[in-house]
Amino acid sequence: MRTSIVAGNWKMNGNLKANAELIAKILKEASRYDGIEVLVCPPAVYTAQVSDLLEGSVVAVGAQNASAFGKGAYTGEVSLSMLAEFGVRHVILGHSERRALFAESDEQVAQKSQAVCDAGMVPIVCVGETLEEREAGKTLEVVSRQLKTVLESIPVEALAEVVVAYEPVWAIGTGKTATPEQAQEVHAALRALVAEVDADAASRMRILYGGSVNAENASQLFAKPDIDGGLVGGASLKANEFIAICGAAAGAKVTG
Ligand code: 13P
Repeated sequence: MRTSIVAGNWKMNGNLKANAELIAKILKEASRYDGIEVLVCPPAVYTAQVSDLLEGSVVAVGAQNASAFGKGAYTGEVSLSMLAEFGVRHVILGHSERRALFAESDEQVAQKSQAVCDAGMVPIVCVGETLEEREAGKTLEVVSRQLKTVLESIPVEALAEVVVAYEPVWAIGTGKTATPEQAQEVHAALRALVAEVDADAASRMRILYGGSVNAENASQLFAKPDIDGGLVGGASLKANEFIAICGAAAGAKVTG
């Protein structure tokens, strides 16, 4: 049995006051998160604030990105050891916004994934096809290529701990969610790809779905056998939505 994860990706949103209010509301309902892992990933500059607010709670702080380099002349970058000092263990990598807007390549995502594993941290590796690629029937080809590059660069021993997030680009921030069946098909294919490297790691690996997850559609998505939680964007900024999504993941675990 895999422990589900619900991760809030705040993207470039928030401020000191709004963050404090959101975290206070999320922590009030922490008893509903039994049996799952919950994390929030604020912009890097708020890592210390959010980490302090979450101290001693069941909710963890994660990061939205990190440098593959250890330290030195890399202006504007944030290293893994810096994030780790504030309690970060999970790092989102290769989000489609970073791939599309900041030209991150499969190779860079792989390099960062390797660095995260080497640091004893957990990469949340995002993969996903564009609408054009889906309509051309290339979904599995695209996500397999994206994941394969990562699989080739991380040590097999670290594989079971790696988290993958399937985020179809056409479903991100659009209100268009993949159907549970569409998502399940891709999740199963991704797990099969991992199984070619290590079957045991594949059965233990958490594969999250992301793309317009909300309080209404979460339960159906999480009920699918290969969907082990969600990477939540817009809805993670609304306390009630996020809490309900966490509740859906905890409920799916009980009933599933
Ligand atoms: P939305 O939930 O806003 O569609 O964003 C998904 C996402 O990109 C999470 O990383």
